[in-house]
Amino acid sequence: MERRKVRGHYEELASEYDEHWVYGSHYVPWMAGQITEALELGPSDRIADVGSGTGLFAREVADQLQPCSPILCIDPSEAMLSQLGTQPPAGLMAIVASAEDIAEGRTRLPYEQLDAMWLKESVHHVADPERTLRGLADRLALGGRMLVVMLPTTIQYPLFKAALARFEELQPDPAVIEGYLRSAGLEASVRFVEHELRISRDKYLGMVRARYMSLLSTFSDSEIEEGIDEMKVAHPENELVFPDRFAFVLARRRGQST
Ligand SMILES: C[S@@+](CC[C@H](N)C(=O)[O-])C[C@H]1O[C@@H](n2cnc3c(N)ncnc32)[C@H](O)[C@@H]1O
Repeated sequence: MERRKVRGHYEELASEYDEHWVYGSHYVPWMAGQITEALELGPSDRIADVGSGTGLFAREVADQLQPCSPILCIDPSEAMLSQLGTQPPAGLMAIVASAEDIAEGRTRLPYEQLDAMWLKESVHHVADPERTLRGLADRLALGGRMLVVMLPTTIQYPLFKAALARFEELQPDPAVIEGYLRSAGLEASVRFVEHELRISRDKYLGMVRARYMSLLSTFSDSEIEEGIDEMKVAHPENELVFPDRFAFVLARRRGQST
């Protein structure tokens, strides 16, 4: 998806983004706990969430961790970041910048180096992930950790067939991301974590209509409506239950932090 279209997509989605995830689900605290554990976060770490969106997950991590220095919520979409409020909550700091801006040093961070950073479902928006991840890796202190949370190359969401097929065309492979992190000089590994999503069918159809995934922005209004009709036939049940599976690509810069 072109950069301009990506930005437009998130401008439109920003005000309702969080609603898609908070409704009757333990998903946000669960995911925040997984991120905290994988990155071995401690309160004294200098932390960034790159492509943080509305800060939904950073907020939960900050609540759980009570960090000494604010978690940097970095995102190129002002509309998404503005959901943090004009006065971001304690433990968070908003920075309008892309991953590339940080990687290339165009935007300076308040911390000289980072002990931990994560990119959750934002790496697919980065134009040249190899170069950008290398630049981000250079921002890590010795012993610093980076976590890329991304969907696998195939998903079992109850979407219409054309959407699933397009997802498979567009989604980067976590193994390739792992390779980029290794060639950036980090130790890297991939594992998968899974969470069962239960969601009312009507709510999910509404999310598809609102194009809750950026991939759905590649379909016209009439294609979305046709897709929704297809989903209604394939899923007559009132509640949709499906696995949300994520790749956790975890990398570490060798050496001991000082
Ligand atoms: C699917 S949302 C994920 C937001 C958040 N990480 C979450 O999981 O709720 C993708 C986010 O990536 C941001 N984004 C788009 N292009 C980006 C880039 N080049 N660098 C960093 N973030 C980007 C979008 O503005 C959007 O907020």
